[in-house]
Amino acid sequence: MEVTGDQNDRPPEAGQCRARLTVLYGSQTGTAEDLAQRIGREARRRLFECEVCALDELRPAALLDERLALFVVATTGQGDVPDNMAVTWRQLLRRDLPADSLRALRFGVIALGDSSYAKFNYVGKRLQKRLLQLGAAPLQPPALGDDQHDLGADAAIDPWLGDWWDKLDALWPLPAGWQLLPADRPPPARHAVRYLEENGNERAVETAPLPSSRHFVATVRSNRRLTPEDHFQEVRLISLDVSGTDVTYRPGDVATVLPQNLAEETEQLLDLLGWQPNQLVMVDGPRADLLPRPCSLRYLATHVLDIHAVPRRSLFELLAYFTESELEREKLTELSSAVGQEERFDYCDRPRRTTLEVLQDFWATARRLPLDLLLDMLPVIRERHFSIASSPKVHGDELQLLVAVVRYRSRLAAPRRGLCSTWLSLLPAGHALTVSVRPGTLRFPAEPDRPVVMIGPGTGVAPFRSYIAEETAETDRPRPLCLFFGCRNRAADLFFGDEWQRLEDDNKLQLFCAFSRDQEHKIYVQDRIREQAALVWRLVHAEGATICVAGSAKRMPEDVAAALQQVFAEQGDMSAEEAERYRQQLERHGRYQTETWS
Ligand code: 2AM
Repeated sequence: MEVTGDQNDRPPEAGQCRARLTVLYGSQTGTAEDLAQRIGREARRRLFECEVCALDELRPAALLDERLALFVVATTGQGDVPDNMAVTWRQLLRRDLPADSLRALRFGVIALGDSSYAKFNYVGKRLQKRLLQLGAAPLQPPALGDDQHDLGADAAIDPWLGDWWDKLDALWPLPAGWQLLPADRPPPARHAVRYLEENGNERAVETAPLPSSRHFVATVRSNRRLTPEDHFQEVRLISLDVSGTDVTYRPGDVATVLPQNLAEETEQLLDLLGWQPNQLVMVDGPRADLLPRPCSLRYLATHVLDIHAVPRRSLFELLAYFTESELEREKLTELSSAVGQEERFDYCDRPRRTTLEVLQDFWATARRLPLDLLLDMLPVIRERHFSIASSPKVHGDELQLLVAVVRYRSRLAAPRRGLCSTWLSLLPAGHALTVSVRPGTLRFPAEPDRPVVMIGPGTGVAPFRSYIAEETAETDRPRPLCLFFGCRNRAADLFFGDEWQRLEDDNKLQLFCAFSRDQEHKIYVQDRIREQAALVWRLVHAEGATICVAGSAKRMPEDVAAALQQVFAEQGDMSAEEAERYRQQLERHGRYQTETWS
């Protein structure tokens, strides 16, 4: 609602605002979401009516009704859109949308990305272009946040936001008699929490509604460690029983898993906040859909609040409102500001300090944090994706995941653990978990005789195990399949070695293994690719093979691309530039695909 002249001399009444702003995010890891929520709070402080949601939470066509929107979108891995904007993105790109569909919309775009990737901020830039094509009017050029700096994207974004608010102030001036809400007081909570008199039962199982119709409940059938106990890494094969569900999947699909907080961390949180685990509450507000009604505090501490992640700026903002110590307030305000980003980085990001550990450091203040604002300002536990390692044809109603348990050290005394992989590693048979299945980025070729060259070191082999099992299941003459697998030791982490051996013996697979640590010098998959230059070239150039790369997003995908280009240059008699273009062309035609994860 815009303010009209006759309201000008009176302070705003409940429900009055200067204008309506919608903040829409596309966020994979939660950074864009945290920023969007922070912008939402600032907008409300400035007396704008503001809704914040993921692009895909908008009802279809709602964008056509928006007048003022700020988009905060991340670019993931290879230039892909985050999952929670994929549907709206496809709708926006539809060719049959008339060129002036969004002519009523004024907008800004904040792009978040990492300049070490070739497609830096690709999603934000494309979104800006597409909105322009559809007739929307930008209030300013897009903000390009770069996560490549150790310090994160704040340095570029805070000044951009300063300009944004100036623009909105000019377009919708603050009416006389209105005052911005104070910056140093907690914002009005978006959640309403009612404490019930009755208590929950300690043993009662609370179940929240499934997040979507695509989700289902699976149970663990087996959970087996594949690597020896003394191996540096714990890798597990987790089999989920999906009988009784109507899930279907294809090789290349990924499963999402919604983890829980680790039991001891849940207990520490309950203790720290002084929460009675069985206390029941009724919650209304944006996140109420995630919760059972009523919901116990134990449920919130176990399934909802993400206390294991490295905290974002919002946590310090929240703590700053509630501290009773002036000194601590100064410190927290600094940690929550753009100016304090270096300090925040040293305190949290570099040592990978968890939200729980920060709350423990500020324990006296943590006890005062109200639940409604915790629900507003703390991230909720996210789903994680795993490439499916099983084949529907071969493994039937068993869906298998190959999971490396993430564990490493930082300068903090306690070892760092990945939440989802650690939680999964501890699941006993029979345990129920919420899962969904969706397409990954790999699309194996439809033509029956085209060869596939697969490169999957470590757990990167998971989607190929699915595909190879599926392809070789029912035929004596499968298409030519060639797998480059890499691991440290033949004896320790050659996953599915027996299966590969059988397929090789039956002439259904050509396998090339790179054991990086079974000899003095390192051997990686890219070395095996160079050794097999003639074969790779023949498969790709003469037989039209599709190349698929999967695994760690660190250096491997680049190194593999370089090796392949070297092969193309040598074998195809091309210059380095021509070989690069050749690979890019394969990529454009869907014949060079990557699925990576960090
Ligand atoms: P390393 O740990 O001995 O260095 C699966 O993780 C395998 O991938 C391991 O053998 C690992 O070797 C190897 N690896 C590490 N970095 C790689 C890279 N840049 N390219 C290809 N393989 C790599």
